[in-house]
Amino acid sequence: MKFYELSRSARLAQLVTQGCLTATSATYLTEKPALADEVLTAITENDLGQFVLPYAVADHFLIDGQRYLVPMVTEEPSVVAAASNGAQRIAAGGGFKTVTVSHQLKAQVLLTGITDFATLNQRIQAQAQQLQAVAAAAHPSIVRRGGGLRELALSEKGQGTASLDLWIDPQAAFGANLANTIAEAVAGFLQSSILQGDEQVLAAILSNSGARMIAQIQAQVPYERLATAQLTGATVAAKIVALNQFAQRDADRASTENKGVLNGIFAVTLATGNDLRAVSAAITDQLQRQSQLTLATWQDHPADERLLGELTIALPVGRVGGAINSLPAAKISLELLGEPQVTTLMSIIASAGLANNLAALRSLVTSGIQAGHMRLQAANLAIQAGAQGAEIATLTQQLNAQAKPDLARAQALLTIIRAQKKES
Ligand code: MEV
Repeated sequence: MKFYELSRSARLAQLVTQGCLTATSATYLTEKPALADEVLTAITENDLGQFVLPYAVADHFLIDGQRYLVPMVTEEPSVVAAASNGAQRIAAGGGFKTVTVSHQLKAQVLLTGITDFATLNQRIQAQAQQLQAVAAAAHPSIVRRGGGLRELALSEKGQGTASLDLWIDPQAAFGANLANTIAEAVAGFLQSSILQGDEQVLAAILSNSGARMIAQIQAQVPYERLATAQLTGATVAAKIVALNQFAQRDADRASTENKGVLNGIFAVTLATGNDLRAVSAAITDQLQRQSQLTLATWQDHPADERLLGELTIALPVGRVGGAINSLPAAKISLELLGEPQVTTLMSIIASAGLANNLAALRSLVTSGIQAGHMRLQAANLAIQAGAQGAEIATLTQQLNAQAKPDLARAQALLTIIRAQKKES
């Protein structure tokens, strides 16, 4: 039986046997998939209960020579299937390859009332060592772990304002809290010991730009893994490139193609307990600054009979800190990924984005998106029609046999299923 055909308990048992998951984690997922009451109360306010989303793994991921089962949290059924589908085609071309990954966070001390930028800059540079010491004293543990303030630079912002940009190495964390702690300490020292006259600190806060928290990955797909019964691989490759290039010229299409990339990115970001708003803010900033409209690019290489994909994406994430420590399922996700380094985690998240993108583009230029989507949406339709318990699987199966399943059809079929059950 294929992995996706197994029952949930058989799938978990297989992962335990393969050493991808401890028996404790498998038991947790089976028996206690919710947060303990005291954890829930501690990590939110005015709690009413828990909002549960499906937790799944996408398979076939080969990234920098290593195989991964990639954990995903998403309400959209087709996302996990698309990730596995895209990853399998890419694995046939040697898998995803990391080109570059950077993991530094910027914090800003925002300054106003500046009349002479050059002399302020000189005063700051003259005290650079002192500022470094202030930053280290504000967060000694990050310095002990080999991180901390790496660089500082003043940049003019017009109308008497400037930003003192602090580049911070947060090691394995995303580092929001430690960056803010360092920025506030530096701001205090600036105000007390460097600023003069009307010069003032307005605020000190990390930047969510993600300019140096970027992963760049590549993937190749052999033509034979793109072909369908009706179309050759070369034709499908050419159509995927044309669709990607269309998006480069058309913002309406680019936003939809980018949403396909985000399907994968957000699902793994959530599964690993990372901050979805931070990732969204950084990607929004990246799209505003970069010259092209799409996150991913696809190029045809007819000489090698291969399609080449590349994704560069801002990913402000960590593998420790934040909610990761409080969310047991986030820790299970990292366990499934073999406790990766933070830069490896970034490559994995980016790979999920490119896999989803490839699967979407290939569907669009071949069968169209609805065939696969509707098959996976059938279960949602069955639940919407009122199916309960075992009725869900029966009705889903019957809906999948319909040419155009809709809610009315689902309700009619459910009435028949219930009448038949009464008779038997
Ligand atoms: C649907 O969730 C994502 C797609 O719309 C992406 C795309 O159009 O490229 C299929």
